[in-house]
Amino acid sequence: MTIWNLGSINIDKAYRLRHMPRPGETLAATGFHKGLGGKGANQSLAAARAGASVVHLGAAARADDWVVGRLTASGVDTTHIVRHHDQATGHAIILLDDEGENSIVIHGGANRTLQLDQFKSAIARMKGGDFLLMQNETNLQVELAQIAAKRSVRVVYSAAPFDIDALRAVLPHISIIAVNEGEAAQLTDLLGGDPDVEGMLITRGAEGAEYRDLRDDRHFQVPAFAVDVVDTTGAGDCFAGYFVASLDRDEDIPSALRLAAAAAALKVTRRGAGDAIPKLAEVEQFLAEQS
Ligand SMILES: Nc1ncnc2c1ncn2[C@@H]1O[C@H](COP(=O)(O)OP(=O)(O)O)[C@@H](O)[C@H]1O
Ligand SMILES: [Mg+2]
Repeated sequence: MTIWNLGSINIDKAYRLRHMPRPGETLAATGFHKGLGGKGANQSLAAARAGASVVHLGAAARADDWVVGRLTASGVDTTHIVRHHDQATGHAIILLDDEGENSIVIHGGANRTLQLDQFKSAIARMKGGDFLLMQNETNLQVELAQIAAKRSVRVVYSAAPFDIDALRAVLPHISIIAVNEGEAAQLTDLLGGDPDVEGMLITRGAEGAEYRDLRDDRHFQVPAFAVDVVDTTGAGDCFAGYFVASLDRDEDIPSALRLAAAAAALKVTRRGAGDAIPKLAEVEQFLAEQS
């Protein structure tokens, strides 16, 4: 089946600084790194590298061919990504100081300009048994989720960045909610209990992850693998992409959790977001090496 992803695309620009700039100050960076990020792009890369057939629905600036190229190179179908001459690709300016503190500015850019009619031909091909991934970094969430759910496409929603109004709006059309520990706490708190969905994937960083089947009231847990952590950016997206790719292959929940935990463990040993997501062969090799 197909995994559709109404997904944000961001360019992450990280600047290393001796200290955070003060108002009015001009400061030279001591280091710079540019990479592909955005929760949507990360999830598309993860699901495609896990071996799934993934179609990305999103937008980027004409000038940023490398961004789309990187998705295509990993096997993501990028033919429905809208290319703009007059909109910036979504981006994040990340400031990192010597104390390990970070400050981040995000510009949604093209991610927030999506229109339903741009995806007409993709929508026409959505069918029962497919998955639709969404995160809270694009517009058009409610519109597309509604259409997908009507066709029995299972909608998997990452409620991040967390916004209760955005969540409430899509909730009637969601099958699975994917959140980290902090988001899960806010969600249960603000909804006053469990959401009315099929299941919840909750990742807990170094504590591992769990899937709660809310229809059968069953809990599945997986511990995190012990690895040397370098950078946890995008760990949750890597987990979610691998998890859904496994479900799409009809693997059971425990296998899907284990594969996703292994993929996310490898991801955190590498610097970067999308670029650091491992391929299936690497994840299988890693699992084979575990006793
Ligand atoms: N320190 C770590 N060691 C091993 N695995 C980790 C570590 N941090 C995160 N992971 C893996 O990545 C998954 C997602 O991380 P988490 O921090 O929960 O998500 P998010 O990136 O959304 O905040 C975890 O469930 C775990 O499998
Ligand atoms: Mg985290």
